[in-house]
Amino acid sequence: MKGIILAGGTGSRLEPLTRVINKHLLPVGRVPMIFYPLRSLVEAGIREIMIVTGGNNAGMFLELLGSGKDFGLDHIDYAYQERPGGIAEALGLANHFVDGDRCVVHLADNFLAGSLRPYVARFEAQERGAMVLLTEVPNPQAYGVADLAPDGALRRIIEKPAEPPSSYAVTGVYMYDEQVWEIIPGLQRSGRGELEITDVNNAYLERGQLAYGILDCEWGDAGESHRSYLAANEVAWRHNLFAEFDRPSPP
Ligand code: DAU
Repeated sequence: MKGIILAGGTGSRLEPLTRVINKHLLPVGRVPMIFYPLRSLVEAGIREIMIVTGGNNAGMFLELLGSGKDFGLDHIDYAYQERPGGIAEALGLANHFVDGDRCVVHLADNFLAGSLRPYVARFEAQERGAMVLLTEVPNPQAYGVADLAPDGALRRIIEKPAEPPSSYAVTGVYMYDEQVWEIIPGLQRSGRGELEITDVNNAYLERGQLAYGILDCEWGDAGESHRSYLAANEVAWRHNLFAEFDRPSPP
């Protein structure tokens, strides 16, 4: 299983915080935002990780994370997305890295207050296909939203619907088998000019191969708006999510 953290895009919704700083380097709690997805993937047992970044300060990820020693890794792979063409486009850059394996994709502005490990274990036991993780939110129109049948079957995912069919948002943690590499090249750009990850997930649904899990922990999306950035910080502080990164103060 490979891990991919997507840290490209413009971060325009957090302007002007992101005008000169890459969104995923902004602090959440006492550490940079990207620490959380990296720690989650490692904690789930994933040792081979690629960070796809772009926009401003791309080189700073290397300065900050280096070979991943602070996270118990021997090395981290990096890729550069030249323009913010969408989450699925950024993922496409990791094809050679994943090299036919399965992968867990984590948006760098998302984090879980609990462990990813049980969901990865479920996906590993799944014969084929993909898995998304859902959570209930008060503002589903800001996210990809699950249209669930009364029996719980996932009918479709709708990206930022004006009239959400449920209150279940699709979080930014996705698990894919090798079919993802044939799905991405067939995608059409959306109204916002991007290759949408929701279209990838719906392609798996059409193949009858999209499973879902419902998160049993709090979730943070630090990049949706200034409010969500504040809320993500509150989640991080409430659960002391950065405790393991604390270093003793110098004398
Ligand atoms: O946070 C969960 C939501 O993330 C899902 O519910 C949506 O279905 C999904 O489309 C996505 O929505 P956003 O519109 O909020 O995604 P955003 O453009 O903020 O991008 C999220 C992360 O993806 C961003 O922090 C970095 C990465 N990204 C994004 C783009 C557009 C890239 O690496 N490259 C890109 O070109």
